[in-house]
Amino acid sequence: MKTILVTGANGQLGSELQEHARNYSHFNFIFTDYGELDITDETAVGSFFSSHTLDYVINCAAYTSVDKAETDYERAKILNAEAVGILAKEAHRTDIPFIHISTDYVFDGKNFKPYQEDDVVNPQSAYGKTKLDGENLAFANHEKTMIIRTSWLYSSFGNNFVKTMIRLGKEREELSVIFDQIGTPTYAHDLADGIISMIDSVEKNEQSFTSGIYHYSNEGVCSWFDFAKEIHAYCNIPCTVNPIKTKDYPTPAQRPFYSVLDKSKIKETYSLSIPYWKDSLHACIEKIK
Ligand SMILES: NC(=O)c1ccc[n+]([C@@H]2O[C@H](COP(=O)([O-])OP(=O)(O)OC[C@H]3O[C@@H](n4cnc5c(N)ncnc54)[C@H](OP(=O)(O)O)[C@@H]3O)[C@@H](O)[C@H]2O)c1
Repeated sequence: MKTILVTGANGQLGSELQEHARNYSHFNFIFTDYGELDITDETAVGSFFSSHTLDYVINCAAYTSVDKAETDYERAKILNAEAVGILAKEAHRTDIPFIHISTDYVFDGKNFKPYQEDDVVNPQSAYGKTKLDGENLAFANHEKTMIIRTSWLYSSFGNNFVKTMIRLGKEREELSVIFDQIGTPTYAHDLADGIISMIDSVEKNEQSFTSGIYHYSNEGVCSWFDFAKEIHAYCNIPCTVNPIKTKDYPTPAQRPFYSVLDKSKIKETYSLSIPYWKDSLHACIEKIK
């Protein structure tokens, strides 16, 4: 039986992987978070890899507070970059595939068509820079690395935009949400399903593990304003949502104005079918309810 280590397993994506794992009883999953395995601790990671026989590593641990990273750069760098290098080094030593999650925030958002994996990166935030460093350290330490860049992640687990909009929508009569940042939400449930089914198809010899960068989000395009409107519409929340510009809602971190990801590569390489963002949003809200 193949063993899959998932780090950062109590976060949004890690929790979704834990849920999907129940449908894959032919795999042995080891789920760890900070308490069981601190991925910034090189010695602990080394001894964990030495004392377990692993076949895959999926790293979901990250410093995900985008605005906080502007003033907490060192900690973000240790977790999003240096620790990724540590995991990749151990995956290399034990010769197993390393799957790591990155972000659309590695791009500057000046594109006018969906970003492809080989488009020029130019992160505008501390978070984006540390995530890009993580990508580079992963490849520098291990050639059998798959980086999956995703965007606007949400889940029924953890805190996220969907839950915030439901809460604020119930508390207030009116809300202002940015309409000039365009991207695609990603239900972590779908991404988790995609990751496990990719591993499953490799194990069934239907595909081979192909290193490289891949993009994954749900299908379609929207602004944060459209996203909020759809959340409220589906939940029957009668809150007025006003569209505002990024310049009228200043945040410490600069975010890309356009970060739609082109998912052709992952769909073609691993025969994945990806749900439309509104369908996945409705499914998530049903679960939250
Ligand atoms: N969230 C988004 O909108 C978004 C968008 C694009 C890409 N991504 C990427 O997608 C991936 C998954 O994101 P997510 O939203 O699922 O993240 P998340 O919910 O913030 O989960 C990250 C997990 O890592 C844990 N962790 C923190 N420090 C650790 C350490 N030193 N060792 C081990 N675990 C540690 C966290 O624990 P604590 O909670 O105790 O700190 C948390 O359980 C990340 O790589 C992220 O950068 C996220």
